Amino acid sequence: MKIIFRLLLITAVIVLSASAFAEGDLKRGKILFNDPKLSGSSFGVSCNACHPRGKGLEHACSVGKTTWSSCSGERNSLEDAINTCILTANKGRPLDPQSQEMKDLIAYIKSLAKKEDKK
Ligand code: HEC
Repeated sequence: MKIIFRLLLITAVIVLSASAFAEGDLKRGKILFNDPKLSGSSFGVSCNACHPRGKGLEHACSVGKTTWSSCSGERNSLEDAINTCILTANKGRPLDPQSQEMKDLIAYIKSLAKKEDKK
């Protein structure tokens, strides 16, 4: 019985940490958000330079949102809006929408929006 319990516990820990990873890590997202060299960016500014502490991104992760006004025109997904800013403002390479970096960035942007809601 003890062995079965331990195996269940180990499985639970693995599943939980894997899902946390899949959802994005806001600490890593914060580092990316403040990195002027994000994804090969050459303009010398970070996301935070234009969106200090998430300014302008308060509703970027709102449920049911279908249109984002990015750095250059309207976009139909958050990932696309972020990639447009990376490409046109930061002068970097767009990220794979499914990549861990994109998930981390979104996790951080979400956490900023939550702080804003509490004010
Ligand atoms: C040079 C300034 C600049 C930089 C750098 C920049 N942005 Fe933007 N961003 C803007 C502007 C301007 C808008 C459009 C705001 C508007 O029209 O309301 C915008 C819009 C957005 C939106 C859409 C918001 C919404 O709710 O519709 C997202 C998401 C976003 N930026 C994320 C980022 C991320 C992530 C980075 C870093 C990779 C970044 N931006 C870098 C200026 C910048």
